[in-house]
Amino acid sequence: QTDIPSIKDVITEFPVGASITGAEIVTEHGQLLNKHFDLVTPGNALKWDATEPTENTFTYTQADPLVAWAKANGKAVRGHTFVWHNQTPAWVFVGADGQPMTATAEDKALLLSRLENHIRNVGAKYGTTIPVWDVVNEVIDENQSDGLRRSNWFNIAGLDYIRTAFRVAREVLPTAKLYINDYNTNVPAKRDKLFNLVTQLKAEGVPIDGVGHQVHINVSWPTLSESKAMIDKFVPLGIDQQVTEMDVSIYTNSGENFPTPPADRLRQQAFMYRDMFALFRQYPGEITAVIVWGLADDNTWLDTFPVTRKDAPLLFDTRLQAKDAYWGVVDPS
Ligand code: XIL
Repeated sequence: QTDIPSIKDVITEFPVGASITGAEIVTEHGQLLNKHFDLVTPGNALKWDATEPTENTFTYTQADPLVAWAKANGKAVRGHTFVWHNQTPAWVFVGADGQPMTATAEDKALLLSRLENHIRNVGAKYGTTIPVWDVVNEVIDENQSDGLRRSNWFNIAGLDYIRTAFRVAREVLPTAKLYINDYNTNVPAKRDKLFNLVTQLKAEGVPIDGVGHQVHINVSWPTLSESKAMIDKFVPLGIDQQVTEMDVSIYTNSGENFPTPPADRLRQQAFMYRDMFALFRQYPGEITAVIVWGLADDNTWLDTFPVTRKDAPLLFDTRLQAKDAYWGVVDPS
């Protein structure tokens, strides 16, 4: 559709972006991205398994075409992600003795040196071309009293993996905005644990510049006031906030399965997108970007998560036509 407004021209408070995976850039998805968005997040291409599949062998075959495309089309690139518990090769957590690492001083030192090497290489490769990075992703578990996810990273290195990741990222990328990114930050317990961690680390001098809210939500969850509280909580810290991975599932629980998206769900979805964007636009100083996690409903991670079924969580449908959700964003009245 060439006759509809560009999202990026309508939303002027902050850059709007979309994630992209695989070869989408060379299909019509690239044109859609070009028309509607200011910014692109590689959905998988910068994760550890893509960039350092074997130790100290760095590959950018997925990321390079995306970054080149962004440059050619004047789009910003958001870096996702240096450290995560998923999509990380098994070798990272194998000790010098060939055994799974444990919380010994030796294993911890090796793990942190691998982490440092990874961030130095991937960070330096793109330098100022990628001015924003999710340094750590999904490190919070609100069910732990200390709020920290029991990942391999934590089990081997404790909180030091987070400290090291930010310190090294700052060294190699002195001007980049460094983010801690997580999901369900609209849930009070999760949000509070994240807030406490950021507060503690900032007090220690760990260079955290921003909090990323993934915002994987659905047509009836969360309430607008919960989403508002998600943003308000971090305002006193004086750090940037970005909505990093927004999508709005048509499903409200994992038992539902629709062969085609029901009209009432798509309408609810449009209202959710409308209300969320209206909320974000009330924070032009605090929210520095909003990114949707995909371009069109023909390619969304929610088709296989949390179960395999057809979802339709994005602004454009499987034929790349604008949905009601799109109109909720561009024409909220
Ligand atoms: C997802 C990608 O979209 C999928 O293609 C991949 O198979 C799994 O990861 N939170 C994140 C993202 O931080 O990196 C995830 O992306 C979605 C959930």
